[in-house]
Amino acid sequence: MAVYCLLIIAIFLNVGSLVSSQHVFGDYTNPPYQTSICSDESLTRGYKCEDYDVITDDGYILRLERFPEGRYNHRGGYNKPPVYLQHGLVADGMIWFSLSHADQTLPLILVEAGFDVWIGNVRGTRFSKNHISENFTNSDKYWDFSFDELGKYDLHASIKFVYEETGQKVHYAGHSLGTTMFTVAALEWDIEKMMKSATLICPVIYLNHVTNIIGSIGAHAYLAEKNKGKIDFFVTELIMPPLGVIEYSICNTPGVNCFSFLVDLVTGPNCCLNASAINIFLKNLPQPSSMRTFEQLAQGCRTGVFSKYDYGNPATNLEHYGVPEAPVYDIRKIPKKFPLLLCYGGNDQLASPADVRRVRSELMDHNIHNLFIEEFSHIDFVNGMTSKDVLYPDVVEFMRRYN
Ligand SMILES: *[C@@H]1O[C@H](CO)[C@@H](O)[C@H](O)[C@H]1NC(C)=O
Ligand SMILES: *[C@@H]1O[C@H](CO)[C@@H](O)[C@H](O)[C@H]1NC(C)=O
Repeated sequence: MAVYCLLIIAIFLNVGSLVSSQHVFGDYTNPPYQTSICSDESLTRGYKCEDYDVITDDGYILRLERFPEGRYNHRGGYNKPPVYLQHGLVADGMIWFSLSHADQTLPLILVEAGFDVWIGNVRGTRFSKNHISENFTNSDKYWDFSFDELGKYDLHASIKFVYEETGQKVHYAGHSLGTTMFTVAALEWDIEKMMKSATLICPVIYLNHVTNIIGSIGAHAYLAEKNKGKIDFFVTELIMPPLGVIEYSICNTPGVNCFSFLVDLVTGPNCCLNASAINIFLKNLPQPSSMRTFEQLAQGCRTGVFSKYDYGNPATNLEHYGVPEAPVYDIRKIPKKFPLLLCYGGNDQLASPADVRRVRSELMDHNIHNLFIEEFSHIDFVNGMTSKDVLYPDVVEFMRRYN
């Protein structure tokens, strides 16, 4: 989340500038032991897992993982309804698996329920770092993208691949920025041709009720800072190192609940995370993204408008969009009959209930369903211990209904 970034920058800027030695944090952030989700037994837990690479229309090479069959139910066979899961910002596909037990994990629950499960990983995350042009990955140009490109190109390439590979339309489920990407996709290309339904978990579309005080102050201040230097600089140089130090020095202290320190401050209080499972979580977060994505989210916090990335001056907007202002995404143009399930929580300070209610009211004449969980915050939805009881059965039910 934008505010995640902003918070870390705001509080830990000094810590970050004090860290000079690579190896101080090198061992603690995104350890290099995994080469793919499929290679990490502690996450796949004996489930069959396959890697695929897809190429976007703008040349990025993205990793998809596929879980085609259950271990207890629905073993064998490939002719099952496909589901595609899209992670949010500063995460990658591993976030869906960052729980202590297989039966708490949405992808594995879906597999046991008879679905063919595909996991997406957007450009810039650890298994999706390649590009068809040689050396492009190491250039600043690689990071020249916002969530506009993630929805328009990454989702298009990934969903198209699943659709063609399985010969069936795909059920979509996205968390946080994964809902933003879906919304962009729904307005940029013909989703009905390749998708059957979308489950939007913690919808991040309007951001003018981000109640987190540090986050909103950050978003306002941040906009003043224009995009300078290497675009992923904030993430790779400023966020990860201090986070590594914090993980090392604080999370290893017995009795400390690192979730409340690192996560709740930013998202609002999560009810149902397992404090003992913090290591599984931190093994996978944060993943890099582009500075422009953070900036676009900060623009949304500030203006309350859901629009394309604003280049900050009329001339550059004109050059890119043919109009002097960044074009607004009109969510009422999402196809009316397309089934949508909005899942949101009473304690979520990022996808705040007030912002989600605005989405609901603008989509009133759409095929829209809602699931509100009073006690949940942003991360409970993907990593909560009780989600398997209070959330995922409804998600499975919704997908079956629109199959
Ligand atoms: C890529 O980098 C290598 C090593 O620096 C260089 O030899 C090669 O010419 C570069 N390729 C392109 C297309 O720039
Ligand atoms: C919480 O996490 C620990 C460590 O991974 C695990 O042993 C325990 O079973 C988990 N509890 C629940 C209810 O998931």
